[in-house]
Amino acid sequence: MEPTTITLHSDYNLGAVDPRVFGGFMEHLGRCIYEGLFDPGKEGTDEDGFCVKPVEALKRLKMTAMRYPGGNFVSGYHWMDGVGPRDKRPTRRDMAWQSIETNHFGTDEYIALCRKMDWTPMITVNLGTGPPEEARNWVEYCNCPTGTAYADMRKLNGSKDPYDVALWCLGNEMDGPWQIGHVPADQYAIRAQQAAKMMQDTDQKIELVVCGSSNISIPTYMDWDRKVLEYLGDLSDYISLHRYVGNRDEDTPDFLAITNSIDQQIEDTAAVCRFVQAKRRSKKPVYLCFDEWNVWYREGGSGEGKFAPHLLEEVYNLEDALVVAGFLNSFIRHADVLKIANIAQIVNVIAPILTRGKDVLIQSIFYPLEMYARRREGLSLQPVISGPSYEGKTNGEVTVIDASAILNEDALNVFATNRSVNEHSELTIILSDRPISKLVDGDLLTGSSPKAANSYEQPNVVKSVPISGVTIEEGKALVTLPPMSVAAITFGL
Ligand code: AHR
Repeated sequence: MEPTTITLHSDYNLGAVDPRVFGGFMEHLGRCIYEGLFDPGKEGTDEDGFCVKPVEALKRLKMTAMRYPGGNFVSGYHWMDGVGPRDKRPTRRDMAWQSIETNHFGTDEYIALCRKMDWTPMITVNLGTGPPEEARNWVEYCNCPTGTAYADMRKLNGSKDPYDVALWCLGNEMDGPWQIGHVPADQYAIRAQQAAKMMQDTDQKIELVVCGSSNISIPTYMDWDRKVLEYLGDLSDYISLHRYVGNRDEDTPDFLAITNSIDQQIEDTAAVCRFVQAKRRSKKPVYLCFDEWNVWYREGGSGEGKFAPHLLEEVYNLEDALVVAGFLNSFIRHADVLKIANIAQIVNVIAPILTRGKDVLIQSIFYPLEMYARRREGLSLQPVISGPSYEGKTNGEVTVIDASAILNEDALNVFATNRSVNEHSELTIILSDRPISKLVDGDLLTGSSPKAANSYEQPNVVKSVPISGVTIEEGKALVTLPPMSVAAITFGL
């Protein structure tokens, strides 16, 4: 293959990469919470009932904003069911996933887990079956000083001090007919505005995420976003985007070219935000919150009235890991508009880790998340990539190498994916205004085939290793990337 050059310049930066782009999402769905994160009294849990090995594995991902409790689940969820003495909490049939919900995990357990993990709480309110005032009361429960009913309830449940939850999402995928309580955009906008106003009147420091389009194929794509943004006006701080992708046609090159479509989705949404801001003559920009994203196309199902059923337990392979790296590259390349992103989800349900009893399996997609999280601080540089390209059947033309870069003072972090299924790539990295002086460290993820995957029997088939084959010559870095690989490299300047 012809070589590729990535050219960067310190001045061509889009500003700081928001750490909240490396967030996660945990929903009352399948075995994400129960069995995955919280199983009081079971072997392998700590004194608070949290599952020790999954928690330890997740710490390696240094996740930031952690969205909870749904997802589709939240549109039928009443938060008061999940607070107070556990033995008094009602068991309910969850309408989104047809499972049994004991409510043994609720707001207080979630906050305790966020504190243990150093996660930023991010709560989604129920705008499906929940009245706007219920959302407002949840803000009081979480954020207000004691002295009024819901804040006093928090104190009674063990926490005098407010939880200070700064990020609140106004419902989930309300544009989708599958959503409990789905309504057309103009009706959602009214509900969301009412909730937003009361929530902000309760705590002016909170930031709000309005529901944008839940996928790119929905007929109301972008029209929904425009209507909602116009109605909510300056009450919106962020608008949500969701995206799940898959290799349904067994076409690996096209699957890996999905980055074009992710870039476009981000740019479409940013354009609508800018259009509405201009139309309203507002000084306040609305930023993007990609609060559900991942590869998901194999596993689905219904909970069939069971507690903690096996649902959406995708087994991930090498090509999926490359696509996850593609999402991250796209997020970094749009650091000026994209401020929050949450991989969906974190344990068992379309997740980087699976659990069986007290054991944990690290999946292929765990590694790019870990490799990027270690190097996420700094300014996003705009990469100019010159090299061979190919035409994806549905996703269009892409360079064989996908890349992003972050400048952190005297360190340059470069992320590069070789999308070729069978050829090595020789890569030259140039920071035009400063010489690269040394390799600090680097991780490489690759495998024997696009479908290579880890299993409990063979857990190390797809695993990152320290990179080799990097040299520095005359201030430039030369890297050899194997086929189907992701590299995350830190250089000293
Ligand atoms: O993450 C799984 C589901 O995907 C979420 O519940 C929903 O918001 C989306 O459709």
